[in-house]
Amino acid sequence: MELGDLQGLVAVPSLSDPHFMQAHYLATVSGLNRINKRLVVRTIDTGGAGPISGIATATNMIRSEWAETVAIIASDSVLSLNSREFANRADGSVEGADLPTPRIPHGYDMYAQWHMKTYGLTREQLAMVPVLMSAMASRHPGALCRTPYTLDEVLGARKVAPVTSLLECARRADGAVALIVSSERHYKRTFGRKLDHTSPVVVGVGEASGPLYPPANPADISPADFSCERAAKFAYRSAQLGPKDINFFGLYDCFPICFIRALEAVGICGEGEGGKYVEAAYNDMIRNGGKLDVQRFPINTHGGLQCFGAPWEVPAMYNVVEAVAQLAGAACERQIFPKPKRALVYGNGGIFSASSVAILGDGV
Ligand code: CAA
Repeated sequence: MELGDLQGLVAVPSLSDPHFMQAHYLATVSGLNRINKRLVVRTIDTGGAGPISGIATATNMIRSEWAETVAIIASDSVLSLNSREFANRADGSVEGADLPTPRIPHGYDMYAQWHMKTYGLTREQLAMVPVLMSAMASRHPGALCRTPYTLDEVLGARKVAPVTSLLECARRADGAVALIVSSERHYKRTFGRKLDHTSPVVVGVGEASGPLYPPANPADISPADFSCERAAKFAYRSAQLGPKDINFFGLYDCFPICFIRALEAVGICGEGEGGKYVEAAYNDMIRNGGKLDVQRFPINTHGGLQCFGAPWEVPAMYNVVEAVAQLAGAACERQIFPKPKRALVYGNGGIFSASSVAILGDGV
């Protein structure tokens, strides 16, 4: 494809270099608007859910025949911001929240404490999440974390909030991903062949929303505040599939509680059982000499936000990139066998404020 072949552009906002109508800005500075006067352009602001909401939007543009080829762009460079500036902007994104600074880690921490009290989640189970993610990331050449953590290292790292240590936070990073979604007709015309097992397709999408930040009183938190269950239900329904049909999961994990809630929401385990599921996977890994088996734990094989890296609203796109690699059988030493036929990717925005889930298939 050439730049001028793009008929649609979807972009998510950037924290480090914000622009009014980000997608229009990118289309203008790249010259895309001049090349294609019929370009359809949209900025999506659902926070970290943005890239998956972008897939929903691109798919709708194609179904409505506004465009045959749509690029989804997510980019940010929050690692290049100095720590203080990042902290100010990140705190500012949840302005009005009655939370100590850093507000985002404290917001997730509040939900983690709620889960501990409600379902018996333990402090150790939370800390096992980055241990598992670091084992995954150590196999990916593009990940920021290349050495697996031990449980003691995670628990002993600097405390950021009451039940959150430094190694349990989304890891600031610079990064960008562009994804092109096209119609089946365009695919056949461009590649001269039908979809096959190497061409990922979008088979279903679901979205749902929650509050921008937690209630001032933790006693007011309710399971209905978490929108991922609803988004997953809509995605499964539109794909006419269920959790057992999925062979790879790319779950948003900005903090361990987000990952644990996601395990429950997408149906990998029951409500309130995410901590036990993580502990079982951790024990399995220890018994296996510290090697995490991707066949038994086909989740975030790239290492997720805590260990691969988290450029603000970009990271759900890494879930998609890893899903595409897994579906194509191109995930190298991280490859799940037999090659997955269906993948679920989840993006979460704000502090459990937006959820977008997409189900991708392998095209056959
Ligand atoms: N793993 C390993 N090291 C980490 C780390 C992690 N997860 N996070 C930070 N560090 C390291 C940094 O690399 C840095 O190391 P050096 O001193 O060697 O450079 C050191 O810890 C200090 O970190 P910071 O420079 O970030 O400075 P800080 O101490 O002021 O802040 C922090 C620490 C409060 C944890 C901050 O990094 C932070 O707020 N992180 C969370 C980021 C965040 O909230 N992202 C969004 C998540 S929510 C979401 O994704 C949804 C959405 O809609 C965007």
